[in-house]
Amino acid sequence: RVIRLSDYRAPDFLIDSVELVFDLGEEDTRVTAHLAIRRNPEALDRPAGLRLEGEALRLLSVALDGESLGENRYRVSDDALIVDGVGEAFTLDVVTLIRPQDNTELSGLYKSGGNFCTQCEAEGFRRITYFLDRPDVMTRFTTTIRAEAKRYPVLLSNGNPVAGGEDPDGRHWARWVDPHPKPSYLFALVAGDLTAVRDEFITRSGRTVSLAIWVRRGDEDKCGHAMASLKNAMAWDERVFGLEYDLDVFNIVAVSDFNMGAMENKGLNIFNTKYVLAKPETATDADYQGIESVIGHEYFHNWTGDRVTCRDWFQLSLKEGLTVFRDQQFSADQGSPAVKRISDVRTLRARQFPEDFGPLAHPVRPESYIEINNFYTATVYEKGAEVVRMIHTLLGPDKFRKGMDLYFARHDNQAVTIEDFVSAMQDAGGVDLSRFKRWYSQAGTPEVTVSERYHPESRRYEMTFRQQTAPSPGQPVKDPFVLPIAIGLLSPEGREMPIRLDGEEAEGRPGTRVLTMTGMEQTFRFIDVAEPPTPSLFRGFSAPVKVKGVPLDRLKFLAAHDGDPFARWEAGQQAATRHLLDLVHAWRRGEALTADPDLLDASRRTLAGGDADPAFAALALGLPAESALADEMAVVDVEAIHAARQFLRGEIGRALGTELAATYERLTDKGSYRPTPAAIGARALRNASLSYLSATGTAEAKALLVAQAETAGNMTDTLAALGLLGDVEGPERAAVFQDFYERWQHDDLVIDKWFALQAVSSLPETLERCRSLLAHPAFDLRNPNRVRSLIGAFSQGNQLRFHEAGGAGYAFLAEQIIAIDPLNATMAARLTQPLGAWKRQDAARQSLMRLALERILAVAGLSKGTFEMASKSLQ
Ligand code: ARG
Ligand code: ZN
Repeated sequence: RVIRLSDYRAPDFLIDSVELVFDLGEEDTRVTAHLAIRRNPEALDRPAGLRLEGEALRLLSVALDGESLGENRYRVSDDALIVDGVGEAFTLDVVTLIRPQDNTELSGLYKSGGNFCTQCEAEGFRRITYFLDRPDVMTRFTTTIRAEAKRYPVLLSNGNPVAGGEDPDGRHWARWVDPHPKPSYLFALVAGDLTAVRDEFITRSGRTVSLAIWVRRGDEDKCGHAMASLKNAMAWDERVFGLEYDLDVFNIVAVSDFNMGAMENKGLNIFNTKYVLAKPETATDADYQGIESVIGHEYFHNWTGDRVTCRDWFQLSLKEGLTVFRDQQFSADQGSPAVKRISDVRTLRARQFPEDFGPLAHPVRPESYIEINNFYTATVYEKGAEVVRMIHTLLGPDKFRKGMDLYFARHDNQAVTIEDFVSAMQDAGGVDLSRFKRWYSQAGTPEVTVSERYHPESRRYEMTFRQQTAPSPGQPVKDPFVLPIAIGLLSPEGREMPIRLDGEEAEGRPGTRVLTMTGMEQTFRFIDVAEPPTPSLFRGFSAPVKVKGVPLDRLKFLAAHDGDPFARWEAGQQAATRHLLDLVHAWRRGEALTADPDLLDASRRTLAGGDADPAFAALALGLPAESALADEMAVVDVEAIHAARQFLRGEIGRALGTELAATYERLTDKGSYRPTPAAIGARALRNASLSYLSATGTAEAKALLVAQAETAGNMTDTLAALGLLGDVEGPERAAVFQDFYERWQHDDLVIDKWFALQAVSSLPETLERCRSLLAHPAFDLRNPNRVRSLIGAFSQGNQLRFHEAGGAGYAFLAEQIIAIDPLNATMAARLTQPLGAWKRQDAARQSLMRLALERILAVAGLSKGTFEMASKSLQ
């Protein structure tokens, strides 16, 4: 069944309050719900019956206004309970049985590591009890949890704890009241044997908040970074947005079986352990950064998501795009904004641009879905954040803040739409955003080209921008997008030139200026331009577009001189991409390859100046990923891409050998590990140097890898070496991987890395190894982190081997999807994504990919989520 935005109707009934009682058991768990319901005065219809959603529930009894109902008064189907003949306002008591220990979907109430926990977004609450399981029904929740005291000493839910006690039979109970009305998707419950790492935070109005991170015994020493990140996030939201926390307790629970990253349940965030647990020996710099941003993200949802929520799931980006934007700004403020921006843009390009190009392209606000879980996408999240960022750019920070204030003033405790958000921004900002809103309704990545003319006599300079967006499913023709174009003009010496548009009174000022493009084609005229300028365009990636046709010599000039660090990095990457594509074509023609001496010089200069900003230097030295090169080709050649890139890595390693070795030595960390931006940057540059040294393939380089893999004092350096070694033929690799396994086999998150590194290896036997790893005792098809680390890493992070001629990689993925679908449909559906990326493959691979999709679709009883992904992928 297809759900459409245009079919939205206000709910016929509202639930003002619910009292839930959970009797948690090893066999059955009994859920008693006492609901206070009334008709919605805004509903269009007055149906005689009340329909509540429910899934995988065993109904025991129903009572209306305290009176038990006979079976003639209600109907139960696979997905609903319908109670006939209800009045204006009434209470309903519903008792159901569920079996959390059998719940492999990890949606609703389930068990992880022996503990009970929940995941209700988007539609998991209906797997706990019958309810109006939609975000525009906001309810006050009181939750009582009863469980065996020995096995489950800790009982948590949303809001504040109000009562508790012991039962005579060895069970105990706790009651929680959440004073804030909320939709059912924000409900949470945890019961288990957990231990807390505690701290507190005093809000600026003086509320003392007890903070606790709940983990399994033995993990207490891995919570410091998460706790510090939480306190930083709480202070940041007060300082930047004036938003304070609104309960006396804030609990975070880490569980090792979790479909996504984390969940913002009111007052009780539940996290994948990956985004909580870290210590230097087991977590990488990237893990530390991931924890900071996900802790921030879930905390920021308290306002953008919980206090103001979504009217329906088509509005998902209302909370996700905005909250990703907020977590990006938070992380940028904790370290280097330029480095953070570069890494966010890289993520967007690697994950969202392919989505826009493929058969699953959808707007930031989709118009229809079969399974909403399939729309927790890079488009809704990351592109959604770019759209909010553009509003921020168009309004400026002060008016943006006023817009946020107005949004909360108007909509606190409401379930609203993206329209409502944009209206608040428009009203507070005094900017007309009506055309800008196309970013929410049109899919696709605009391509921008620029032509220009300089008139020396009149000192005028003209630039004409053109935008074009390819058709996407259901959208053959696109209206123009509103593009904020952050621009600088550079003199031939690389100085910022003053910018003055024709018709402006004021003197021009040097630096960045934001132009707003609204049409398909638009010309901007600059005056008082003393010399022919070099334009630096879309500084800071001011709009999520692809800029085409910038001449190579200009890219090289910008890579050397642009004052905007993002644009400087970008120009270098574009130049490297051009060169690599030339190498790809030369390789295909069987010609000898030669490295561009300009690129080698530029790399040498970057390395020489690396100490000023090592993190930036590491990014600037990096070559575009194989997948990024594939995105630039009409028909991908995975072998040629791999060969060209390896060749260039080796050439850089040989040409800069002395400097690289010196950098590697100089940046050796003598102190103890710290995840500060400076220390992270130094490790990044040092490991970038190691990577180029290893690309030369010399025995010395290999020895360096083995030494670092075996003796590094932190996981960042260990893994950097291990990853490089994973591509190297010879006996060393197996021995080092074996040692690593033996050393870390007790630590799940580290073993995930061990699986992933083997899955992304470029060696020819990788697929075979992945197959045998499926049978490894540490592998578990039921654990999402494991599935992602082996099957996900292979299919999404190993272009060369996944797309191997003959289609064995596709068949492998299809088999795993078919095996996972009956256990965890959300996971299975997500795994199908790489099979949809067939458009740029050659004809033989295209048909093999389609064959794999058809094989999935032929399975009887396929979940609706996997059906949606596989069937849309074929279109
Ligand atoms: N709202 C969560 C977050 O972004 C994501 C939860 C999505 N879960 C799911 N099964 N669709 O932080
Ligand atoms: Zn989120």
